[in-house]
Amino acid sequence: MKKIEAIIRPEVFAKVREGLAIAGIGGLSVTEIAGCGRQRGRTGIFRGNTYEMEFLSKLKLEMVVENSQVQPIIDVLLRDASTGDVGDGKIFIYPVEQAIRIRTKEVGAIAIE
Ligand SMILES: Nc1ncnc2c1ncn2[C@@H]1O[C@H](COP(=O)(O)OP(=O)(O)OP(=O)(O)O)[C@@H](O)[C@H]1O
Ligand SMILES: [Mg+2]
Repeated sequence: MKKIEAIIRPEVFAKVREGLAIAGIGGLSVTEIAGCGRQRGRTGIFRGNTYEMEFLSKLKLEMVVENSQVQPIIDVLLRDASTGDVGDGKIFIYPVEQAIRIRTKEVGAIAIE
């Protein structure tokens, strides 16, 4: 199992959510975050400018999925979260040790279906 963490623009969430549903994800956590990338929160910054670090509103999506779902979900994110402008976000993939559904005590892949 892997955890896919995706930082995306709030504006693309509706489209991404549709794509993820079609890809068959079993669950999704969404958090409103403030962040900055290499432009330090500025869009259209020019080299040599002095600036302070600013934070822009983004959404953090977290999904724990089976290994076979990782690439299809990355494909959805690359397609539906992209505008082509700076600030489109990032995808991070982590290994997941275990998943447990509290209600049924199911463990492993069955707990994330
Ligand atoms: N290295 C990082 N670690 C943690 N969060 C990050 C990192 N880089 C970006 N983020 C998060 O992703 C959001 C969007 O980043 P952004 O897309 O601007 O990255 P970037 O590297 O500047 O790429 P681009 O040049 O396309 O803008 C940030 O606001 C921040 O929340
Ligand atoms: Mg950036």
